[in-house]
Amino acid sequence: MPRLHVNVDHVATLRQARRGSEPDPVVAAALCELAGADGITVHLREDRRHVQDRDVRLLRETLKTTFNLEMAATDEMVGIAREVGPDEVCLVPENRQELTTEGGLDAAGQSARLGEVVPALQEAGILVSLFVEPLPEQLEAAAKLGADFVELHTGAYAGAAGRARDTELKRLETAAAYADSLGLRVNAGHGLDYRNVLPVASIPQVEELNVGYAIVCRAAYVGLDQAVREMLDRILAAAPGG
Ligand code: PXP
Repeated sequence: MPRLHVNVDHVATLRQARRGSEPDPVVAAALCELAGADGITVHLREDRRHVQDRDVRLLRETLKTTFNLEMAATDEMVGIAREVGPDEVCLVPENRQELTTEGGLDAAGQSARLGEVVPALQEAGILVSLFVEPLPEQLEAAAKLGADFVELHTGAYAGAAGRARDTELKRLETAAAYADSLGLRVNAGHGLDYRNVLPVASIPQVEELNVGYAIVCRAAYVGLDQAVREMLDRILAAAPGG
């Protein structure tokens, strides 16, 4: 059964709507931990549209569970990560116009740049994950780069329905098994919600699920504690006999 990492970016989105101090993603992260989350994820974007540098520094000081920092492979972000020292970094592509991370990283096409960034982070004691589409060439590139993890992009699965969803699930299952055979550890995330999480949580190689938007939306109705516990219950159903 995978561990749940809660992405609290959208708590910061709400705060930034008024450029004030509430709600505080650092407080939200602590509440997620108290509800049983195994880790916290934030994406420090180049344009700082939601998470701020102060959040990243305070999270490093206060988190009791795993701290996963999502970021682009830029010099600025590598410098911040090496200074702050999250447990994991997930490298993602970043485009200023996008509403959320849209596609996976082109690990194959950007191997020269990533070949510098991956060891620079690992030398600082940080585990490195690459957010990639479930494609063999991307997994092979990630393995060649020496990444510790891949995070399989579940967006196509989450956005599909009926037969198309079954096909996308199969792609994720095949990719997870192939990544494992290449010596990569496997995480998954993007677009996962209360209804679609179970089949992904049931993929045996998947160690961590990164879930953000669905939990923060549900928290607006039922509170963060209950929203996290309900997601943990859905994931628990993937455990043998669950
Ligand atoms: N994983 C990665 C790499 C992401 O960029 C995001 C979105 O920030 C997520 C997981 C979480 O996606 P969602 O907010 O749709 O659950």
